[in-house]
Amino acid sequence: MSGSIGLSGALALGAAGTSAASPVIERKVPLDGKFLWGTASAAHQIEGNNVNSDFWLAENVQPTLFREPSGDACDSYHRYDEDAALAAELGFNAHRFGIEWARIEPEPGQFSEAELDHYIRVLESCHRRGLAPMVTLSHWTVPRWFAARGGFENPESPELFERFAAKVGQRLGSLMSAATTFNECNIGRLARILFNLDSPQAQAGVKAMLEACAKATGSDRWANVLFGDPAKSEANMVDAHRRSVAALKAGSGDFPVGLTISMQAIEGVGPDHQASAFADMLHGPWLEAADVCDFVGVQTYTRLIVDANGLVPPRDETEKTAAGYEFYPKALGDTVRYAASRTGKPIYVTENGIATDDDSRRIAYIDGALAALSQAKADGVDVRGYFHWSLLDNFEWTAGYTQKFGLIEVDLKTFKRTPKASAYHLGEIAKKLGSV
Ligand code: FCB
Repeated sequence: MSGSIGLSGALALGAAGTSAASPVIERKVPLDGKFLWGTASAAHQIEGNNVNSDFWLAENVQPTLFREPSGDACDSYHRYDEDAALAAELGFNAHRFGIEWARIEPEPGQFSEAELDHYIRVLESCHRRGLAPMVTLSHWTVPRWFAARGGFENPESPELFERFAAKVGQRLGSLMSAATTFNECNIGRLARILFNLDSPQAQAGVKAMLEACAKATGSDRWANVLFGDPAKSEANMVDAHRRSVAALKAGSGDFPVGLTISMQAIEGVGPDHQASAFADMLHGPWLEAADVCDFVGVQTYTRLIVDANGLVPPRDETEKTAAGYEFYPKALGDTVRYAASRTGKPIYVTENGIATDDDSRRIAYIDGALAALSQAKADGVDVRGYFHWSLLDNFEWTAGYTQKFGLIEVDLKTFKRTPKASAYHLGEIAKKLGSV
């Protein structure tokens, strides 16, 4: 196996940049019932300089809960074509990425045609490389103006999100192979538990940061999907999700639309364990909200063990990833079965991966997860694709650049991309199997 990836083949496929006004529909990579193999990313985590977003502000105020600011990230805003070429050369046939609302609608109702054109170029780059693009409408970040109006706690938020989705569906829809509305729509619920956000100490930290954001924008309100209270925002998010599915479908394209849910394997232990109630609490109303979807995106990283009193931390001797979760790749088999049985929808694994500095553990994780996925598929679960998180080592939210989830290492000064052994490993599986 060569240590570097030649781009010449991919570059020979076509010149970059067609007219923004006329998306080239015939270039659309059809899903054709084929199993999708790809990687997943989020706009804010890889693009860089997402200065008009709520997260950018939260990273740069004092006090902040972020370890470091996102800054240039992986500079994928400019290097998207290099990223797509690398993914295609590795052997993938699909590409999951996010578009950034804060760029597309920098002020309320003011849409940037230039930024929409930018995402047309990104989509066209995928098609040129033979990658079916699966687009995330909202991967946690929102425009500052939206956060300053209370984010999804604002009763007007569903209409505001619908307006954004309609514009995207109209301008970009014909180039999408698939789309999802919210990434990990239930993240607010999970974050409260994992980060113990209801504790007085955590609440004080969150409050101070959100107040600093509000002050910086001259607002009396500020909301952020990671740190907010789902009791105040979730009903609006469900409404926004439903409206945006319809808005995307009314646009210029014809493609499946889904929702992605953070779903870890949940196992009960001991008498009167609360595993089932815990799972219901974690997923909230979202399994039901998938009724308007063509598929459900499952995002799994680990398993959670629950006794009669709640979450039980993994034992000291349990192998943990660099993100502190239990190393438990088999979780993916459980979650795709659960999602399919609860919703009756086809499943795409829209995220699955591991934070580690030891790439051999990433390879072991991939093999374990794919074995479990393959078994679930053999047992009749309608799984249609696997997107690994992530193509690149990137900005991992509050952890900054300390957690490495990427198949490809990125030099944060030169932006040079260097594939790891795991990238070739997963790429070879994608090339050989075509399906699990
Ligand atoms: C998921 C997020 C994604 C990334 C991975 C590690 O919860 O959707 O952006 O941070 O975790």
